[in-house]
Amino acid sequence: MAKLDATAPQPIQLKDYLPPAFLIDKVDLTFDLDEDHSRVTSRLVLHRNPAHPDTRAPLRLDGRELELEALRLDGEPLDGSRYELDAESLTIASMPDNAILEIVTVIHPETNTSLNGLYRSGANFYSQCEAEGFRKITYYLDRPDVMARFTTTIVADKAKWPVLLSNGNKVGEGALDRNRHWVKWVDPFKKPAYLFALVAGKLSKLADKFTTASGREVALEIWVEPADLDKCDHAMASVKKSMAWDEQRYGLEYDLDTYMIVAVGDFNMGAMENKGLNIFNTKYVLARPDTATDIDFDGIESVIAHEYFHNWTGNRVTCRDWFQLSLKEGLTVFRDQEFSADMGSAPVQRIEAVRALRTHQFAEDAGPMAHPVRPESYIEINNFYTVTVYEKGAEVVRMYQTLLGRDGFRRGMDLYFKRHDGQAVTCDDFRAAMADANGYDLDQFARWYSQAGTPRLTVRGRYDAAARSYTLEVAQSCPATPGQAEKLPFHIPLALGLVGPDGADLPLRLAGETEATAGTRVLSVKGARETFVFEDLAVEPVPSLLRNFSAPVQLDFPYTRAQLIHLLAHDGDAFCRWEAGQTLMLQDLQGLIEAARAGKPLALADDFVAAMRQVLADEALDPALVALMLTLPAETYLADGQAGHGLDIDPDAIRAGREAMKLGLAQALRGEFKQAYVRLQDDGPYRFEAAAVARRSLRNVALSYLGELDEPVLIELAGKQYAAANNMTDAQAALAVLVNWAEGDAALAAFAAKWAHDALVMDKWFTLQAGSRRLGTVAQVQRLMQHPAFSLANPNKVRSLVGAFVHNNLAGFHAADGSGYDFAADTILAVDKLNPQMAARLAGCFNRWKKLEPGRRGLMHAAIERVAGHAGLSRDVYEIVSKNLQ
Ligand code: TRP
Ligand code: ZN
Repeated sequence: MAKLDATAPQPIQLKDYLPPAFLIDKVDLTFDLDEDHSRVTSRLVLHRNPAHPDTRAPLRLDGRELELEALRLDGEPLDGSRYELDAESLTIASMPDNAILEIVTVIHPETNTSLNGLYRSGANFYSQCEAEGFRKITYYLDRPDVMARFTTTIVADKAKWPVLLSNGNKVGEGALDRNRHWVKWVDPFKKPAYLFALVAGKLSKLADKFTTASGREVALEIWVEPADLDKCDHAMASVKKSMAWDEQRYGLEYDLDTYMIVAVGDFNMGAMENKGLNIFNTKYVLARPDTATDIDFDGIESVIAHEYFHNWTGNRVTCRDWFQLSLKEGLTVFRDQEFSADMGSAPVQRIEAVRALRTHQFAEDAGPMAHPVRPESYIEINNFYTVTVYEKGAEVVRMYQTLLGRDGFRRGMDLYFKRHDGQAVTCDDFRAAMADANGYDLDQFARWYSQAGTPRLTVRGRYDAAARSYTLEVAQSCPATPGQAEKLPFHIPLALGLVGPDGADLPLRLAGETEATAGTRVLSVKGARETFVFEDLAVEPVPSLLRNFSAPVQLDFPYTRAQLIHLLAHDGDAFCRWEAGQTLMLQDLQGLIEAARAGKPLALADDFVAAMRQVLADEALDPALVALMLTLPAETYLADGQAGHGLDIDPDAIRAGREAMKLGLAQALRGEFKQAYVRLQDDGPYRFEAAAVARRSLRNVALSYLGELDEPVLIELAGKQYAAANNMTDAQAALAVLVNWAEGDAALAAFAAKWAHDALVMDKWFTLQAGSRRLGTVAQVQRLMQHPAFSLANPNKVRSLVGAFVHNNLAGFHAADGSGYDFAADTILAVDKLNPQMAARLAGCFNRWKKLEPGRRGLMHAAIERVAGHAGLSRDVYEIVSKNLQ
């Protein structure tokens, strides 16, 4: 068993943080790129760090999978007795206080399948250095608190690699013998090595310009494979919007003469904010109406914004160590969410963000990988690019804004940059800037960074007609998580309103206050139990709690069905209005799942159907909100809901209950869905703008309900939509209906024939089948892995087929015979040989095993043990499976 192995990888601890023994002022890199190996020459100007406790500490440079060819200290070759090499490092024991170190390493990008460090995609070279990829390029102090000025010279064959890019500004280029050429780049800003980037190859660019608020002209370049040049317009428009927004909202301008984005089809994550040279997964750059859906267009806009915003929150001010990752990621996600809210519909953006948080982050917080926003230890840092660090981290940043107001938050941001520009800092530094800029006590707020788990907020309301008062009793608690048995109370902003019988907000006056306020107010909840008394209320209100989801908590309030229906119809807060419908829906879904488990008949409640009918009929509501109100929670979210109620997860009952609700609504509201479908038809050309997106979203939700009904005329309707669609949003929505019926086979074949040449579109084809209730089986997914468009070495392919199946198709993956678990184990081990970071992501499919019904629990346990016992397992996968077995 791997977990008993004495050589098992050891965790890195936050409490062990020490400043580096040396600092690097300047690094000059020369890359000699070629087909069967590349050579990297590095010249470091170093000095001893006075902040390090040991004034004679050795210099220990990080390095992995490197061939050391030469090493010179202050011009003299170092003989073997002066340094030590092992698999992870190069150590020079005796070092002067100031030194120039020259290192020549040979690397093999052409066989690097991890997509970390320097690697090949097709014939081109790309780099990915976050978090610890630079050490696969050369020996270096590969940690974010070592910030240096970089110059980079790239030498390569001119015909094979005509375009040579790196960070900063291009300062020179020229021809060499043997048909080779060189380009030199200088980045004037100090940066940690994780922000280094290099790209070389045959690429074409879309060029544009942006003039900053202070009047500087910035060249904008998006570099892609020549065939993709017609899919870059939306990305370019998104860049310009992002630049303008950051100036307006935060007074932040771009700081180099050129801003480059490169798109690559082989990439582990979404995108990377390398200084001046962002590298993106093609998924977040390329879009044309016929190849990309509304969701893709939206994703591109927000990821472009995210990476652009990192230039200040991440690059100009960076992280002291990787435990502080949320300092840049939580903040930058918050910034991209605020941007997206301003570009489209704010309530729709907010609801979608909360849905994602609850579906993925609440699950993480309730499982074996639960960790605080600022983790205290890790085995492999790549495993901590999580929904907790990113999405919960963004909620933590949002809470500052909710407590301090938008202006107060801006004051905090201004102080943060004023204090820390050019530095590598901590989450505490950010919190201190927010506190100091506003004279606001944020000491207790620190617990949001250190305590894992989703807090539960239990609220009870009592109306006293004689006293005309409404009392809210608020209690908070937080479940135990691995390594954290006891939790202390959080500082929770509780935004609320009191809704009167006519649906309008009542004026709010707390006992002791002289004047009432209108609309929403934010209570600061700090104790384990608190009481708030509202006065002057002539009638009993319905409390609208946690407005706009003011804190990442589970709310427990014993609403009656009548109260929920009242909020669903009237709440002035769009989030709470949606939430009321979801609560009602979830209650009834849980009833249906229980009935399915007990073998009882599955019928919908009349008041629920009536409420949904009213939502659908309300033409004054944004169609996008109606679509969200009619969207059922994911199967996995229902599974976590069962587990949260102390029940074993039964995937078949969840699927049966969820399908019964969808079918029941389709039958009851057939006419209304049909009407909406007709009413929302759009005859014009495709446009990506909020109103058109909203209409398509509701129309396609209507189609997906109608597609549940086993009626030839409705299946034909989907077929017609597929054939007539002038955009991928409508084509994909129609195909998603068809795949559940035999008619889908012909449509799938036609789709594959049409799009065989387009990797991103084929990803959709794989995902549709992996999620289909008809085709989403282990056998079918295994068959699809043999398809010529599939590749185990390409992360987008693995995610869109295998990931979609094991993470999102609850009933398909959890086949009662355990075949899904064997398949997952085999695939994880196969991917681990190529790309450990991707394999570890897949291994997350085991995280619910302890909550399954006993039969599946035993089968999944055996599959996890098989992976854990595999010889040569990566650190990445080891960490996930060992934490599952603890
Ligand atoms: N910092 C990147 C972001 O914008 C995340 C990222 C991209 C990443 N590629 C990576 C993290 C590879 C780890 C490994 O969120
Ligand atoms: Zn990021």
